[in-house]
This record gives sequence, structure tokens and C-alpha cells, in this order.
Amino acid sequence: MSVHTALFRRLFLINGLVFTVGTLVLALSPATVSSPVVLTELPVLLVGLAVILAANALLVRTSLAPLGSLATLMQRVDLLHHDDRLTDGGNGDLAHLISTFNEMLDRLEAERNAASAHALAAQEGERQRIARELHDEIGQSLTVVLLGLKRVVDRAPDDLREELRGVAEGVRSSLDEVRGVARRLRPGVLSDLGLHSALTALSSEFSQASGLPVTRRVEVPHGLDGDVELVLYRIAQEGLTNVARHAAATRAELTLGQEQAGLTLRIRDNGRGGVTRDGAGIRGMRERALLVGARLTVESPPGEGTEVVLVVPA
Ligand SMILES: Nc1ncnc2c1ncn2[C@@H]1O[C@H](COP(=O)(O)OP(=O)(O)OP(=O)(O)O)[C@@H](O)[C@H]1O
Ligand SMILES: [Mg+2]
Repeated sequence: MSVHTALFRRLFLINGLVFTVGTLVLALSPATVSSPVVLTELPVLLVGLAVILAANALLVRTSLAPLGSLATLMQRVDLLHHDDRLTDGGNGDLAHLISTFNEMLDRLEAERNAASAHALAAQEGERQRIARELHDEIGQSLTVVLLGLKRVVDRAPDDLREELRGVAEGVRSSLDEVRGVARRLRPGVLSDLGLHSALTALSSEFSQASGLPVTRRVEVPHGLDGDVELVLYRIAQEGLTNVARHAAATRAELTLGQEQAGLTLRIRDNGRGGVTRDGAGIRGMRERALLVGARLTVESPPGEGTEVVLVVPA
């Protein structure tokens, strides 16, 4: 049955019911109406009309209430939250409208997932390209400069040698920086050494850069999918970056392991908490989570720190 037939039937039934009851009351009651209307009959007529109108209004209103909640959901729905669906509270023929709407949400969600998968794949590809160029081009050129400088240092007159050593030191630290940036762009350790080492390296780099101690407990199950690994790594990366940037914490914790609900990643801090809005970073985490069918939650009571939890169901 189409939506508009359903609505028509519903309104027709209500009106029919009210008219029938009205007619029955009129037929069975002792009240009579003379023509022309006598003044004393007028209040009875008016009260009767008011009762009919009120009954009709009440029935139509209750019967259309699901449309109101549908409209509210339409305004609020966020495709990043998978469970935003309208439940059919036994609404009979309106069930069709509700299920059509839910189907539309499913379709939009699927399309959105495909689009963000595409965008994220493009982003990863671009990062790899930049990382490769940084490493292979700039890294190589700097290495050549560094080797050249070393040769010159050995043959330089004494008064220049110290200065040249300083220059060589500067080039060496630039080289380290370039390598560091390339590594962050492309978690090469991920493919080379696996997720465990990648997360270990990530958290110790984070500790070094931010001065925050990180408690780490990482257990990576065997045969984890490559896509899932990358999602876990990127979410840990963004979570820790947020701790350093926003939390004003004194401790952080990174755990990964099998729990009842599935493989669970937690990034926790003891900082200020109170995350209320999703910025680009948290939205990005949600999008990545959806890509592998995982669920991301951010618990952040003000003053009690923040916990980002990602659950990848088995
Ligand atoms: N661990 C945290 N502790 C306290 N506040 C946080 C924490 N993580 C995020 N926030 C708050 O939530 C907001 C949104 O975070 P999100 O990562 O989405 O964006 P961002 O870090 O501000 O920007 P981006 O990640 O795009 O560079 C932050 O601006 C910050 O106010
Ligand atoms: Mg962020």
C-alpha cells in the first residue's frame, strides 16, 4: 500500500467513525430540531458540533503523531550514528512510511560509507606518495649533502672544521625530521613490523614529544585484516594527538585487546574531559570506524578525562 493511500485510509476511517457516531446519536436521542431552528435548540446543536469537532481533532492528531516524530528524526539524523532509526510503535498503516524512511537511511548510509571509503583510500594514497617523495627525494638529497660535508670536514683547515661540523649536525637533524614526517605519514612499520610495533613506536614517540607517560597494553590477535590494522593505527594516532593537544592530562593509556564485544581499542587520559562537539578529527575517527563495521564512542565527563573506545566486532 502506498504512503498516500495509507494516509487517506486512516483519515477516512477516523472521519467515517466520527460521522457514524454523530449520526447514531442523532437518530437514537430524543432531541429534535425544528425548522426554522428554535432558540432553545441552538445550545444543543452547538454543543453537539463542538463534541464532534473535538473528537475528530483528537483522533486525527493522535493518529498523525508518528509523522511528528518522523520529522524530528529527519532533522536530527546523523549518518555517523548507526542506530538512528525510527521504531514502528505499532502504527499500523503508517508502518510503511516508517520503513520506507528507514530504508532510505540505510541506502544513504551505504552510499556515504562508500564515498568516505573512497575519500579515505585517496587520502592514504596521497599520504603514501608524499611520504615516498619526502623519503626518496629530499631524504636522498640531504644524505648526499651530509656525505659531502663529512668528506669536506676531514680536509678542512682547523679553523673551519668546527663550523662545518655544526652545519653537518644541522643537516643530520633535518634529515631525521624528514624521516620522522615520512614515517608519520606512512606507518611503514605497520606493513614491515605489524600493528604491535607500530603502536609501540607511536606511543613512545608520543611520550617523547609530549612528555606524558603512556601506559600501554597491546595484544594484537593473529591474522588481523590489513584495513582494520590501518583503522586502529589511525584512530590511536588521532586519539593520542588529541590528548596532547586538548586534554591537559598527566597520564595517558593505550590498550588494545580482545574483549567480550570484540577487539577493543581504548585511548584514555586523566585530563579535563568535556568533549561536546565532534571536530574534523573525531568525525574522521567515526568515518574510519564505519569503514570496518566498528563502533566508536567518546566518553568525556567534564573534569574526569576522556576515553575513546573503538570496538571491532568479531
Ligand atoms: N582528549 C581530549 N581531552 C579534552 N578535550 C578533547 C580531547 N579530545 C578532543 N577534545 C575536544 O574535542 C574537540 C574536537 O576534537 P577533534 O579531534 O574532533 O578536533 P580538533 O582536535 O580540534 O581538530 P583536528 O583533530 O581536526 O585537528 C577538540 O577541539 C577539543 O576541544
Ligand atoms: Mg583532533
